[in-house]
Amino acid sequence: MLNSPFAYQDGSLFCEGVSLNDIGREFGTPCYVYSHACIVENYRRFDAAFTSHQHLIAYAVKANSNGAILRILAREGSGADVVSVGELERARAAGIPPDKIVFAGVGKRSDEIERALREEILLLNVESMAEMEQVSRIAARLSLHARIAIRVNPEVIIHTHPYIATGSTGDKFGLPVARAIDAYRRARDDRSIEAIGAHMHIGSQITDLSSYSKAVEIMNELARTISEEGTQLSYLDLGGGLGISYAGDPVSTPDDLAATVLPLLEWFNGRIILEPGRSIVGDAGVLLTTALYSKPSSPRSFLIVDAGMNDFIRPALYGAQHRVLPVRERGSSVNIVDVAGPVCESADILAHHCALPKIEPGEFLAIMDVGAYGFSMSSRYNSRPRPAEVLVRGDEAFLIRERETADDLTLRERVPRFLS
Ligand code: LLP
Repeated sequence: MLNSPFAYQDGSLFCEGVSLNDIGREFGTPCYVYSHACIVENYRRFDAAFTSHQHLIAYAVKANSNGAILRILAREGSGADVVSVGELERARAAGIPPDKIVFAGVGKRSDEIERALREEILLLNVESMAEMEQVSRIAARLSLHARIAIRVNPEVIIHTHPYIATGSTGDKFGLPVARAIDAYRRARDDRSIEAIGAHMHIGSQITDLSSYSKAVEIMNELARTISEEGTQLSYLDLGGGLGISYAGDPVSTPDDLAATVLPLLEWFNGRIILEPGRSIVGDAGVLLTTALYSKPSSPRSFLIVDAGMNDFIRPALYGAQHRVLPVRERGSSVNIVDVAGPVCESADILAHHCALPKIEPGEFLAIMDVGAYGFSMSSRYNSRPRPAEVLVRGDEAFLIRERETADDLTLRERVPRFLS
């Protein structure tokens, strides 16, 4: 969003018109808080950037799959990029029509393929030759035509964390160009399959757009080759991946992305699909946490808080750095601390080397830019119930997911007879 919805007013950090202090008191912590206005603005900016070409924005559900957020996007006209039947169910329940849903993933089970075919989604994004054969068998059994895109690995160099690069040589995703061309050839002889799309998704948190232009040029060449052999593409799915600014400095925008790829696609008279996740919801959310203890020590001092790596794993998993702001506004920052969670792992540090004012136990802190891959990657590790989620719209706050309780932890466990 151009102007962050999270700003200090009257000495307290607000989300839109609601004080995070009030939210912390009413709903408890840890708690994810999202701005409605920010999600809507991010979506509209992305959509507007591509208006000069017929396109579909298929929001990447994995970034944040809360039903309220999916409903906001459904109302805006968004489609969905899903990677499991669970995400497909969520997207449908939120009102996203099947003809705006694309389904990717290297390991779709047969029941997932069957469900997607019966639902008549827009495209199954097929990631291997073996998967294509499986789709064909299932479609034949159901007497249906499977509309597919082949996911291509353009094998470009991507400047991002290696765990989230997906379009470089050796990545498990999609088929390298030569194998993909082969897949289109096989699909032409298969009456159960219509290969009408090509898909790429080269990675996530990408800020250097040159990887996109290289990848699109490779897709263009592939499209030319298969068109000479008789396959005309109706859809070109460029995936997601546009990065956001975690440090507060300016980064590439959806307009920049459109200005990079659209001139390369003037020849294409089909529909372009984009699958943004992080750039729609990333800066729309904070994780609200309560300070528990200060632990000054050498060589590191810690501020222990009540949110942990089970609630928010990005710092532990990718070394991601998120800003931390005190909810009560203060003057200068005096301490350098590591903000640490309660989980029994040394990796449970939510923010390294944070400059913060003196924080009293009981004070609220906001971990910024956690709307994407925050709650959706949370777990119950250390038997910690998952946090609550709250959506703010104007001066109203809505609980959109209740905090779990101890009962949730054991809900699906069963005691075998010999132990009861
Ligand atoms: N399309 C496909 C096929 C994807 O696999 C992904 C993300 C997206 C779209 C959306 O990408 P985005 O616009 O959000 O970058 N957990 C990691 C990010 C993993 C991304 C996985 N795929 C993180 O926290 O950085």
